[in-house]
Amino acid sequence: MIKKCLFPAAGYGTRFLPATKSMPKEMMPVVNKPLIEYGVDEAVEAGMNEICMVTGRGKRSLEDHFDTNYELEHQISGTGKEAMLGHIRDLMHTCTFSYTRQTEMKGLGHAILTGKTLVGDQPFAVVLADDLCVNPEGPGVLAQMAQQLYRQFRCSIVAVQEVPEDQVHKYGVIAGDMIRDDILRVTDMVEKPAKEDAPSNLAIIGRYILTPDIFDLIADTEPGKGGEIQITDALLKQAKEGCVLAYKFKGTRFDCGSVEGFIEATNYCYDHFYRAG
Ligand code: UTP
Repeated sequence: MIKKCLFPAAGYGTRFLPATKSMPKEMMPVVNKPLIEYGVDEAVEAGMNEICMVTGRGKRSLEDHFDTNYELEHQISGTGKEAMLGHIRDLMHTCTFSYTRQTEMKGLGHAILTGKTLVGDQPFAVVLADDLCVNPEGPGVLAQMAQQLYRQFRCSIVAVQEVPEDQVHKYGVIAGDMIRDDILRVTDMVEKPAKEDAPSNLAIIGRYILTPDIFDLIADTEPGKGGEIQITDALLKQAKEGCVLAYKFKGTRFDCGSVEGFIEATNYCYDHFYRAG
């Protein structure tokens, strides 16, 4: 039903300097696969094969990753190494990839608005590829949101998880009314609150389903916290005018934008995917 998935990938990744000085954060490999490819896999699993990316200066390798590399493929043709490209070749056949550039890094809300030209007037998903999500027990987080929740509720949905109180200042934090043991109807949303101002400890992570009216709401949003155009400010307006749901997803999320989360994800993926074959 939802076919398009938008990947805002224009940020500077300053928490990972110097690695991200000339390399996109989204191209950092967790074991032998870049973060962006984990995100695209999750989108495809959720039935989305129109992949839209918002990139920026120095991010060309993202486009190259989802394109043919003739010299390399010629070089390894007929050898055992060809199999290592099998999965990415499948993705290239299954999906379309389109790109646009954010020329000024004015925040996640602004990056999403920049993607309007690729998304058009339809509901879409957003994946922040530096949040790597896994759910060994069942469908991935985006599939849970798109195929189970959106089908039923037809409104914007944000994925949330409980975080320790001393971590809330890193996230958008929601408050809401419980409508199911894993779903809240959002009533408030604060970007990176101080511990004492946080309306709860439910933090928004990098998975969203958005209805296209969000674009006008972002366009009307003034810069907020940190001088950036915040998606949380636009979502709060949407929640007040209509409905936004917060979903306590099933699975585990690794914050690969931080060194600690990246190492945890690497250890997890090595054990569960790489070594397990
Ligand atoms: P983050 O704040 O996590 O990413 O933004 P960052 O700015 O790249 O990283 P740090 O904090 O400096 O280490 C969340 C997501 O939004 C994208 C980022 O690429 C990331 O996927 N983003 C953020 C944009 O595309 N454009 C922006 O202007 C800001």
